[in-house]
Amino acid sequence: MIETKRKVSKTISSITVVAACALLSLVLFANVSGNESLSNEPDLANYVGSESCRNCHVEYYDGWRETVHGKMIVPAERYEENNLIRKAFEDGITAGSPRIRLNYPGQGEGPPATSWEDVDYVVGSNWKARYVKLVEGEGHRFYDAQYNITGTQAGEMTAYSEIRNNEDRCLGCHTTGFDYDRSKSLDRSATDYSFESMTAELGIGCEACHGPGEKHINDPETEGGIINPADYTVAEQTEFCGACHGRNMGHRTIEGHQDPIGFSIGEYARDYTKIQSLVRPYEGEWEYDPSRFWDHGAGLSHRMQYNDYEQGPHWGKISCSDCHNSHGVVPNSRPEGTVMIGGQPTVVMPASGTSALKWPADENFCYNCHSTDQHNYTIEAFMPMTSRSSAGALAEQRSHTFWPRGMGNPHPSVDLTR
Ligand code: HEC
Ligand code: HEC
Ligand code: HEC
Ligand code: HEC
Ligand code: HEC
Ligand code: HEC
Repeated sequence: MIETKRKVSKTISSITVVAACALLSLVLFANVSGNESLSNEPDLANYVGSESCRNCHVEYYDGWRETVHGKMIVPAERYEENNLIRKAFEDGITAGSPRIRLNYPGQGEGPPATSWEDVDYVVGSNWKARYVKLVEGEGHRFYDAQYNITGTQAGEMTAYSEIRNNEDRCLGCHTTGFDYDRSKSLDRSATDYSFESMTAELGIGCEACHGPGEKHINDPETEGGIINPADYTVAEQTEFCGACHGRNMGHRTIEGHQDPIGFSIGEYARDYTKIQSLVRPYEGEWEYDPSRFWDHGAGLSHRMQYNDYEQGPHWGKISCSDCHNSHGVVPNSRPEGTVMIGGQPTVVMPASGTSALKWPADENFCYNCHSTDQHNYTIEAFMPMTSRSSAGALAEQRSHTFWPRGMGNPHPSVDLTR
């Protein structure tokens, strides 16, 4: 028998109807009714920043700070001299590595870095890190360099071939309140040009999940002043995390982007981006790249938790937030040192050693909901490492299908209708 700690009764079929009601009644996103612009993001002016939430929700703030959501993009000047991510970059310069150059179309042709001063931001701290520099008239470019924190090439600098800018390719998933229209309208030659002026906050701040907070901080008692994702159905909550945690084949209307511009909680993520699915066609069309999946269905690349999830037994029954805690961390389950993964020795070095989960990621994890006498449900057996984030690694992230590797795609036994 299943015992769930929370009520998880709502089903996936209610999503469209509830989405419409939620948007009307809560007035969450100010510009949602206007059709004049491509995006329906709220006005950046209505964001107040995570720091302002700390005044009244200090425990939530301190817990969130520990999660990697709070550390996504970090200005380079905050890196101290002995930091490994910084040191690897500096060592690369000293060694004359051709990789420590900015990526330009035609790759590797951009100017080389001469010191840490040539880095403006670092993206990532958990599995890998990438380096960004603002180039006048161009925007925020990447170096052809990636520092690997986990995986078979942990501790090494490898190539990174992205030639598009951070603002044109990544920010909608990696910051709070990214304003696409503003990103297009700003003059990239202006001396004060910065991607910070097109987002409310670097990283996934409180308002990335709770919506702009101005109304709420001025009048906390008024209902509807702030989003509480718990007010949404299981399906809507899963869509919400999945909009960023699902690998897609591009935005439906904005070329070159994969970030879910225009999407807000209560909506269906696949109406905005072509999220790859092995089990549900979108308006009659199959949208997936087979090279991103194992034969048994689980995703090969990182940020495929949603793509995995919809194949498994938890889909429609519980949401990501029934296991994950957005406001705190516990010790994680990642093995440390050299372990065998898929028959290959793989170095796994947990950078933080923690995960944003409700319970410690130990052998009892599944039994917080499942009863112990039922099955031998463990993270190790049912969430094998199948997806890869850093370079070279066979896999260092856990699958989210919740079926053991090799068991095959289980979907015939599960109702996966939208
Ligand atoms: C001035 C104090 C104050 C500040 C600042 C503040 N809150 Fe609150 N918040 C409250 C109070 C009080 C409640 C409980 C209101 C109630 O019970 O009706 C609350 C409730 C909430 C809820 C639950 C709402 C619901 O309807 O279930 C969320 C979510 C929330 N706050 C998020 C935030 C976020 C995000 C920020 C920063 C943008 C923030 N709060 C800033 C005082 C504050
Ligand atoms: C990644 C998304 C995410 C981020 C970031 C986030 N939250 Fe939440 N928050 C949630 C979800 C989901 C819930 C619903 C309760 C749950 O499932 O944990 C919630 C619930 C809450 C609640 C209401 C708790 C209740 O009793 O219902 C408060 C208050 C809150 N968050 C404050 C904050 C503050 C303050 C920050 C930033 C320091 C923050 N949250 C950052 C996702 C997030
Ligand atoms: C559709 C949303 C989305 C887009 C677009 C996206 N990312 Fe991510 N990215 C994520 C999510 C979600 C994670 C964390 C989950 C995971 O790795 O499985 C992540 C993880 C990362 C990490 C690893 C972080 C760490 O701490 O190790 C780096 C680095 C990164 N992304 C860089 C980029 C860059 C650079 C771009 C643009 C070229 C980009 N991402 C585009 C959603 C996105
Ligand atoms: C049944 C519980 C459960 C549900 C539901 C769940 N997860 Fe997880 N998730 C886990 C566990 C356990 C880990 C492994 C953490 C560790 O090793 O410390 C994890 C890890 C992760 C990671 C980090 C990758 C890694 O290997 O450490 C991300 C990102 C993530 N989950 C996102 C999601 C998203 C998005 C959803 C919803 C689509 C989701 N999870 C649903 C239990 C769950
Ligand atoms: C705006 C995009 C976005 C949204 C929405 C979002 N995430 Fe994330 N998430 C990210 C990115 C980007 C990272 C990688 C951050 C890094 O490693 O620096 C990440 C990392 C994570 C991790 C690994 C972090 C850790 O500390 O273990 C978990 C777990 C996770 N997200 C769960 C969730 C859940 C659950 C939700 C929904 C409540 C959610 N995320 C909503 C973008 C998002
Ligand atoms: C937050 C509660 C929760 C957690 C934690 C959880 N599950 Fe589940 N699990 C459920 C629910 C709810 C169902 C659906 C039961 C139903 O349909 O009757 C389910 C169903 C399943 C099923 C389908 C077969 C069955 O026994 O019903 C499998 C397999 C499964 N879970 C594996 C796992 C594994 C492995 C873990 C730990 C990594 C885990 N679960 C953790 C709530 C949870």
